Amino acid sequence: MGMMDGRKCLIMGVANQRSIAWGIAQALQREGATLAFSYVNDRLKDNVAKLVAGLPNSDTVPMLPCDVQAPGEVGALFAELQARWGSLDVFVHSIAFARPEDLGGNFSDVSWDGYALAQHVSAYSLIETSRHAKPLMEAAGGGSIMTLSYLAAERVVEKYNVMAVAKAALECNVRYLAAEFGPSNIRVNAISAGPLRTLAASAVKGLREFQHYMEEKAPLRRNVTQEEVGDVGLFLASPLSRCITGETIYADNGYHILGM
Ligand SMILES: NC(=O)c1ccc[n+]([C@@H]2O[C@H](COP(=O)([O-])OP(=O)(O)OC[C@H]3O[C@@H](n4cnc5c(N)ncnc54)[C@H](O)[C@@H]3O)[C@@H](O)[C@H]2O)c1
Repeated sequence: MGMMDGRKCLIMGVANQRSIAWGIAQALQREGATLAFSYVNDRLKDNVAKLVAGLPNSDTVPMLPCDVQAPGEVGALFAELQARWGSLDVFVHSIAFARPEDLGGNFSDVSWDGYALAQHVSAYSLIETSRHAKPLMEAAGGGSIMTLSYLAAERVVEKYNVMAVAKAALECNVRYLAAEFGPSNIRVNAISAGPLRTLAASAVKGLREFQHYMEEKAPLRRNVTQEEVGDVGLFLASPLSRCITGETIYADNGYHILGM
């Protein structure tokens, strides 16, 4: 018996085998969860399909398109899931995007378009997707929603710029959604993860330096792994975290507690 047997989980944000969303999906699958995936476009669909092909019962795993910037695609994703599953227990929101030119340079140079784009994909999308997930989770008697954040939401981290503001909004969204959805027994939390080498992270120059710094300074003197963040995701998805909502949980080997 797995901790997640019979639990239906939608994973948004797998781009390749390094994605944090894939680490969470693997942890959920290990505990018996039933998974569905979304992909942003046809180019990344092939990557997701190859990974899904390695899962047990892969032919029954829903793979659905959803670009959160495309009008109607969020609604269509959840309508399709409603038709196939009727209910949902867990929703993993692991997506973010900003223009490369807005990740570096002077913070004050950001344009409204760049700011709005980062907010739309990386923060507002949690509100829109959660709104659609809510009725499916109510049909299940409750659920767990989680998203991925980063320390730059609260501390100045060089080059993070527009994404830092998006993560600050994201963590605030988590609290407001948790307050609204709590009476429906739906929990909403964020994982603030340490730096991991992924496709999205490659847009922030100097990731390797961050990782060396983590190894030297973090209380646990090492970097986090995709598996470790995946296990935190499993904890938030599972009944073990049933009394936790509206939180940002740090999966960063203690780095965030440091002053100097
Ligand atoms: N890698 C890190 O160091 C790190 C640390 C803390 C938090 N995070 C956060 O974790 C989350 C996942 O990122 P990752 O590092 O696994 O990288 P990733 O590139 O594997 O995942 C990012 C995902 O966002 C999706 N995405 C981008 N634009 C989209 C859109 N318009 N509609 C739908 N999906 C879209 C991409 O398809 C991709 O699957 C992000 O929110 C990121 O900010 C990453």
